[in-house]
Amino acid sequence: MSAVPSFTDTLIAWQKRAGRHDLPWQNTRDPYRIWLSEIMLQQTQVTTVIPYYLRFLERFPTLEALAAAPQEAVIEYWAGLGYYARARNLHRCAVEIVAVHAGKWPKSVDRLASLPGIGRSTAAAIAAFAFGERAAILDGNVKRVLCRFFAIEGFPGQASVERALWARAETLLPECDIEAYTQGLMDLGATLCSRRKPHCNDCPLQQACQAHRTGRAEDLPTAKPRPALPERHGHYVFVSDGHRVLLERRPAHGIWGGLLVPPEGETAAVLARLGISDASESPLGTLRHSFTHFRLTLSATLCHIDAPKAIADPSLCWIALESAAEAGVPTPIRKLLEGIAPAREAQ
Ligand code: ADE
Ligand code: SF4
Repeated sequence: MSAVPSFTDTLIAWQKRAGRHDLPWQNTRDPYRIWLSEIMLQQTQVTTVIPYYLRFLERFPTLEALAAAPQEAVIEYWAGLGYYARARNLHRCAVEIVAVHAGKWPKSVDRLASLPGIGRSTAAAIAAFAFGERAAILDGNVKRVLCRFFAIEGFPGQASVERALWARAETLLPECDIEAYTQGLMDLGATLCSRRKPHCNDCPLQQACQAHRTGRAEDLPTAKPRPALPERHGHYVFVSDGHRVLLERRPAHGIWGGLLVPPEGETAAVLARLGISDASESPLGTLRHSFTHFRLTLSATLCHIDAPKAIADPSLCWIALESAAEAGVPTPIRKLLEGIAPAREAQ
């Protein structure tokens, strides 16, 4: 053992000292009882599982009893635990082991993982608890502990991050005490290293934990990335004589409801609508702005005219450039307005 106790040694010592030892599926090597607990615990908490587990075992005390029962009876004893595909797969798995494997459980993780309802992590838990196999588990709780302890960045549901976590989980396996180690990972993730407000001050791994050392325990694991927002584009025509700018009041509903913005649309179409034919055009640049449900790229053209023109449309008004920013324009429009240099006063 190295001078600094490793993740693995620390966890094993902590599990033996402070972990859970009296859960109904502990202190047995019966793969049937261990398998049943692991399936029930896949999406359900320990306190909910315990009474279901005990009732289920009374009704179906052995793998053979379960395989011989009709599927409806199995569902009946599962009712209330949710995720009923688990119950159907449980029954199929029992039937398959009895029919194909003559009632004998395969011991290797790979063969366990090929059975209905048993994924790689569940297979490893069964192999470790029932057969003492050195096999790595990696459920949601374990991912959280590893992401924090090693400050692993990236969403754990992403394939590359998950691959890195499996590789890490494999390298951490102890030479012996696989049961205490595996249970320790589960216990730490379920008790101290909770999703929100982890109890780092009570944690045996605190000193070496990278997330704790850098104050990022609650920021890891990285959250699921949000889907990219849809992209929209809007072109705005700033008509100005260098003193005033023509703005249009938006309808009350929709984006920028009730605010003042320049007329929107292709430059030529906007000028035609306004009856302006003598403008000199120059680009005002582009800007990106995020709304809750989409991202907007704004582009703008400045149309300089010599003198403001009377406009009949009551939703349009001429606003002095100096006061436009305060007149109730949205932020990106205000930024574009800043690109219009006011004309100097005549000498
Ligand atoms: N969650 C999954 N497997 C578990 C186990 N064996 N003990 C406690 N919680 C668990
Ligand atoms: Fe989790 Fe905190 Fe322990 Fe690190 S120190 S493993 S974040 S409980």
